[in-house]
Amino acid sequence: MDIEVLKKLIHAFGPSSKEDAVKKIIKQSVKKNQIATLEEDKFGNLVAHIKGNGPKLMIAAHMDQIGVMVTDIDKNGFLRLGEVGGIRKSFLVGQKLVFENGVEGFVYYEDKDSPWEVKEQKIEKFFVDIGVKNKNEAKKLVDIGTQGIYKPSFYKSGDRVIAPALDDRIGCLVGIEIINSVNPKKLAYDLYVVFTVQEEVGVKGAKVSSYEITPDCGIAIDVTDAGDMPETAPVALSLGKGTAIKVMDRGMISSKEVKEKLISTAEKNKIQYQLEVITAGTTDAYAMQITKSGVQTGALSIPTRYIHTPGETIDLNDVKNTIKLIKKFVER
Ligand code: CO
Ligand code: ZN
Repeated sequence: MDIEVLKKLIHAFGPSSKEDAVKKIIKQSVKKNQIATLEEDKFGNLVAHIKGNGPKLMIAAHMDQIGVMVTDIDKNGFLRLGEVGGIRKSFLVGQKLVFENGVEGFVYYEDKDSPWEVKEQKIEKFFVDIGVKNKNEAKKLVDIGTQGIYKPSFYKSGDRVIAPALDDRIGCLVGIEIINSVNPKKLAYDLYVVFTVQEEVGVKGAKVSSYEITPDCGIAIDVTDAGDMPETAPVALSLGKGTAIKVMDRGMISSKEVKEKLISTAEKNKIQYQLEVITAGTTDAYAMQITKSGVQTGALSIPTRYIHTPGETIDLNDVKNTIKLIKKFVER
């Protein structure tokens, strides 16, 4: 697994609809001799096709990350924000943001009533200071519609990584590793690895891509909530205990055939896995499954703490197991 590629993916600016920097890193990181075609579709998805004899399998990982968009700039140059994807407002105050073309800002809030604690976690109450004196100065740096993300950071301690946008750059890394390491001669499927756009605003990239490809089988690679922190919601997933084979999330019940084949492949090859049932969130698999007359679809997830915060935390062993399982799944 190439940690340097992961670092680059984490540092790329890529909120929904602005995934170009992520795309560039993926294009640079995949081994071209492995791929029959590497193309962008009209919506912006990056599609790698590895020819194999067998039914069509689409593997999807999304390139976009959650972010914000400038909704208003006041006369003193303070920015107001709207959400792009599921921003968890209570984690926004006190953060550094980075906007397009590298402009940075600090998020604060209207503290008249509660100077030392954020009582009203409404995005309308938050503002961003980008270090300017007035609206004119601000307008030279940002505008209405400019998008921003949590300032990227990357920390690795042993097998654990803490970084914003592991959702779903870690899935992109898995996609890259699959492309670079499968043996095309051994493929049991005609394989499409799709790096999708705009997942965080309604699984849109996967929707158009799976319509175009019409796979016989789909697997999404994404993160999912871990439940191994103090006093947290009852989720039976822990960091470092294996890749998570999805049974159900808020948007999808995995197709029995795919789920069972993933489980039996893991068992046969002694690959550590956990079963995932979560009641919030969904993935690109949701879009793939209900394409045309229906697609057999499942998902593999990397258990992740604090999803959609700047401190998303994973265990790299779960990533290794995810890659291993997909390779065994796609090879004869
Ligand atoms: Co997400
Ligand atoms: Zn995701």
